[in-house]
Amino acid sequence: AQQQPEDLWLFGYGSLIWKPPPHYDLRVPGYIEGYVRRFWQASQDHRGTPEAPGRVATLIARDLWETLTDSHPSAPPRVWGAAYRIPAHHVAEVKEYLDIREINGYSIQYTPFNTAGGEPSKRPEQDMSATTQTVHPAPEALTAAGKGEIPQQIDCLVYIGLPSNPQFLGPQDPQALAEHIVGSRGPSGENREYLYQLEEALEGLSRENSSSRLFVIQGRSTALSQLQSRAQVERLGA
Ligand code: BEZ
Repeated sequence: AQQQPEDLWLFGYGSLIWKPPPHYDLRVPGYIEGYVRRFWQASQDHRGTPEAPGRVATLIARDLWETLTDSHPSAPPRVWGAAYRIPAHHVAEVKEYLDIREINGYSIQYTPFNTAGGEPSKRPEQDMSATTQTVHPAPEALTAAGKGEIPQQIDCLVYIGLPSNPQFLGPQDPQALAEHIVGSRGPSGENREYLYQLEEALEGLSRENSSSRLFVIQGRSTALSQLQSRAQVERLGA
């Protein structure tokens, strides 16, 4: 029998959290386990240039990460983010879009995504055709039928960093990383804005993030613990 195309669930842990993929019909906050989020990915096309790459988030499999010498030795057990459901008839197009937008330099894995028990949100009607939405709008109420169809655990596609990926940098000195982020910019804007947008997006996802946010993002925790405040980070760039 011919195989039917299936919906795709895509996990966002970086810019996808606040800049959703096109054509998704549901967005669900939640987390995955077994990975560590780090600013160990060079960005030549968004937050930097080929001559001066910026730094963006990637995920490292925890068993690999444990073999590396990270000057930030602890990592939370969960990586929070948002899963997006892409209807089957849009999967090929969205994969192509992500190829262009992000995956240069990442590898693909599938992993269980756990819904946080929070409200899923539908894509707003007026944005059904948009491909460049940058801010996720307030969640819309779902119908009972819509809620019922979301299982607690979902197999999700996730883009991760492997040492063999060309943009993968490996462990970064925290001070140098913070300074590098502050000094970088690319076609998508200032590298530091990516960092701040990620922090803001994570704060919006769960209470767990608010209480442990200093440990969630290496670059930001560095900025906070070593440089003490954003103002000091800003001054670094001056
Ligand atoms: C993200 O924003 O979650 C992301 C998307 C594609 C590649 C890497 C990260």
